[in-house]
Amino acid sequence: MLTAPASNGPSQRLTLPWWRDAVIYQVYVRSFLDSTGDGIGDLAGVRSGLPYLKKLGVDGIWLSPFYPSPQHDHGYDVADYTGVDPVYGDLGEFALLVGDAHRLDIKVLLDIVPNHCSSEHPWFQQALAAGPGSEARSRFHFVPGRGPGGDLPPNNWHAMFGGPAWSRVTEADGTPGEWYLHMFTPEQPDLNWRNPAVGALFDQVLRCWLDRGVDGFRIDVAAGLFKHPELPDSPDPEADARTRDSVNPLAWNQPEVHQVWRRWREVCEEYTALDGRERLLVGEVSVPTAREHALYVRPDELHQAFFFDLLGAAWDASAFRTVITDALRDIAGTGSSVTWVLNNHDQVRTVTRYGESDPKGSGLGAARARAAALLMLALPGAAYVYQGEELGLPEVVDLPDEVLTDPIFRRTGSRARVRDGCRVPLPWSGHASPFGFSAGTQVKPWLPQPGWFAEHATDRALADPRSFWHLYREGLQLRRGLPQLGEGALRWLESPPQVLAFERGDGLICAVNFGTEPVPAPAAGAPLLSSGTCPAGTLPGSTAAWWVVASATNPHARPISSQ
Ligand code: GLC
Repeated sequence: MLTAPASNGPSQRLTLPWWRDAVIYQVYVRSFLDSTGDGIGDLAGVRSGLPYLKKLGVDGIWLSPFYPSPQHDHGYDVADYTGVDPVYGDLGEFALLVGDAHRLDIKVLLDIVPNHCSSEHPWFQQALAAGPGSEARSRFHFVPGRGPGGDLPPNNWHAMFGGPAWSRVTEADGTPGEWYLHMFTPEQPDLNWRNPAVGALFDQVLRCWLDRGVDGFRIDVAAGLFKHPELPDSPDPEADARTRDSVNPLAWNQPEVHQVWRRWREVCEEYTALDGRERLLVGEVSVPTAREHALYVRPDELHQAFFFDLLGAAWDASAFRTVITDALRDIAGTGSSVTWVLNNHDQVRTVTRYGESDPKGSGLGAARARAAALLMLALPGAAYVYQGEELGLPEVVDLPDEVLTDPIFRRTGSRARVRDGCRVPLPWSGHASPFGFSAGTQVKPWLPQPGWFAEHATDRALADPRSFWHLYREGLQLRRGLPQLGEGALRWLESPPQVLAFERGDGLICAVNFGTEPVPAPAAGAPLLSSGTCPAGTLPGSTAAWWVVASATNPHARPISSQ
């Protein structure tokens, strides 16, 4: 039997920290709802969308960065960690948003970006002016170049978004000067966490937002921050360039980073001790193995870290089973719960990802995405839902080059990897862009919405009981009400190879048919909830369903593994 830490019954569930099995909705502020009619979403828009989110049934929201920023990476280039960019509102609007969210019992998480800041942050501007050897430069990684005249970058590291991870500055006297490190774009200089001033700055930033009432933080690139102190060449720079950020072992996942998460946990605990409200730290941790991932969520470090392997798994029963099994095994004993995610603002949306040649998602991709959602909501742990996921929004794959804003496109020229397609502003109502996203019908949203967005608008979704929206809502309601779907055991059940079936707690069965042909249902009777029509006794292809059976001794629910 696979077990996540403790608890089966509703009474125990009430006493557990709220985040352990919470469903958090990711708000990409820029694309959620635009209250001012400038074509860009804002905090007032988020506030007016709160009743919609309450109705959906989420426990909290994570707000993508809304801080003052030149927007080279849509806010992941922060120029002031404690302010609000005027494009998104102001601190007064932020306070109203937190107040309204809390009145609706919705937690608010901010996105904090500690690995790098904006090149327009005052610290970087001071560093440029202060010159080599200065204290201001030591808050970043400024070093002389290699080769004659220092013309070559200090090492062979690649930036995540293409090109070398180094840029050269021109010194005050006009001569070519030192190089600085940026693991993303040149407008995002990496901070030097070996300088204590950096840690002290972030202590203040955390306290500032905690004082303003937030319930926690999503931490950007949480396996970053520290680099190898000597900044040596990478043994395999081409591999670093081809694959994800966790690969260059000299630039990521350094042991010192764990001290920072211990420190941040202490700060959170300090606030919890004052008022009993548990604050949450959830990290974006991309590291090579589930075992290394688990190190980030030891009891005195981050509360949670996104588990991206589910998102990365191909539509295949055994791939999903391996990912789920590894996650539950490796999280056990850490003090955390698995944090499942199928979509976010950096990834191709599930409807398209699972849809193969069906990008608009009318068929296969949509059916699979619905099934994956029911699977995720039945797993032990927390789940994160990215805005538009509850509408079954497909990726917009055909945005013209001239509207693409993702720096990956600018830095690599590769359309294949761009992230604009999952960030197109949400459709709320009507038959033409801006589909209620912006106040006013003539407004052009910052990314163009295709005409077919009308089919996915929230007004249609709410009116159609077969919509994605109703599936998510019912799933969330049942999850909240059924004690089996809190924390506790997951037990795999015998099933054909193209099917995953498991029991949660006592008598809640979830099965997913990854194949295309129907199979016999693993439980008798009508399902409690299903992602598609389930004729009596069968589970059709690309479909998931939940059943409640009288007890675990149901003859259809035979356990096959005990790990
Ligand atoms: C994270 C964010 C991504 C951003 C990058 C750099 O991966 O999710 O959107 O571009 O960090 O901050």
